[in-house]
Amino acid sequence: MSYGTDHQENLVGIWGLGFGAWVLTDLSVEIGSLRLQNPLIAASGCFGYGVEYTDAVDLSTLGGVAVKGLFLKEREGHPPERIVETPSGMLNAIGLQGIGVHRFIREKLPELRRLRATVIVNICGSTLDEYVELARILSDAEGVAALELNISCPNIKEGGITFGCSLDGTFDVVSAVKKVTSLPVIPKLTPNVTDVASFARASEDAGADAVSLVNTFLAMAIDIETRRPKLSNIVGGLSGPAIRPIAVRMVYECRRAVKIPVIGMGGIASARDALEFIIAGATAVQVGTANFVDPFIWPKLLDGINDYMRRHSVAHIADLIGTIDATAREKQWISS
Ligand SMILES: Cc1cc2nc3c(=O)[nH]c(=O)nc-3n(C[C@H](O)[C@H](O)[C@H](O)COP(=O)(O)O)c2cc1C
Repeated sequence: MSYGTDHQENLVGIWGLGFGAWVLTDLSVEIGSLRLQNPLIAASGCFGYGVEYTDAVDLSTLGGVAVKGLFLKEREGHPPERIVETPSGMLNAIGLQGIGVHRFIREKLPELRRLRATVIVNICGSTLDEYVELARILSDAEGVAALELNISCPNIKEGGITFGCSLDGTFDVVSAVKKVTSLPVIPKLTPNVTDVASFARASEDAGADAVSLVNTFLAMAIDIETRRPKLSNIVGGLSGPAIRPIAVRMVYECRRAVKIPVIGMGGIASARDALEFIIAGATAVQVGTANFVDPFIWPKLLDGINDYMRRHSVAHIADLIGTIDATAREKQWISS
């Protein structure tokens, strides 16, 4: 199954001189049965439903678009304040506002198809059954390339514990969804756990085609004059450059723990950042908060990656995945 343009078109038509050799760069990567023409994916919640960004970016040039998280029904989300700026990042508690799956299929998906976007639908559930129902509905819809499971949602049948903070919860959601869909299934891991690699393993054991990480880090900010929390929800999720080194570490750990592809994200704002994740072990990367700062970031990221590949004579981006050379330092890292 292939949702990107075909392989021939994936060859970026830029010839460059690297160490005396002409290098034709191939940016295509594979996430299970899904081939992406390049590893750059717009992160869920930071790119609307994709269609809102067509003045800034040609969606067909992206590896994929992960659309805003969808529940079965429409949701209003939390009241304001929902966003707070922080040093090198932002704190959000949007509360997963969204139009619901049926309106998405009616109002957004046809346009995404017309724009030749590779659509990854981010799904959310308050119960296991909700994830399953969403997966069923979306599997019958034309133009969905993959399902990303936002498991950072409270399970109302288990006292509100976040699905993705329990190994059983993670395993159960992934295996239940896998049973009802033939689309690639990508659980999105929360970083708000002690050992993220064990959640990648639980996902792989349950049949996930890939894992993506990280979602936002639980955080809060207080107005010291009023002594009130800055967010109406009191706590929110931290994203942006502030979280990047932690996210890179988590991608590195997951890559070592599982054989399925790892999709990395967290604070990517330049080609250099994206390459850091790929070298740490990410097969593809998602870009979220940086898109709010610069919606025209995408061609710059592609140019920067191409430039790096030419300078280092890397013909296929896939050859760069997980090439971190940690041999001398690994022992030290494990014991620290
Ligand atoms: C405003 C906002 C809304 C988000 N909404 C979602 C969402 O609906 N589903 C989801 O899985 N992640 C959501 N995220 C998390 C991002 O997709 C991403 O995992 C996180 O922000 C880290 O990447 P970044 O630092 O590049 O933004 C949201 C993040 C932000 C900032």
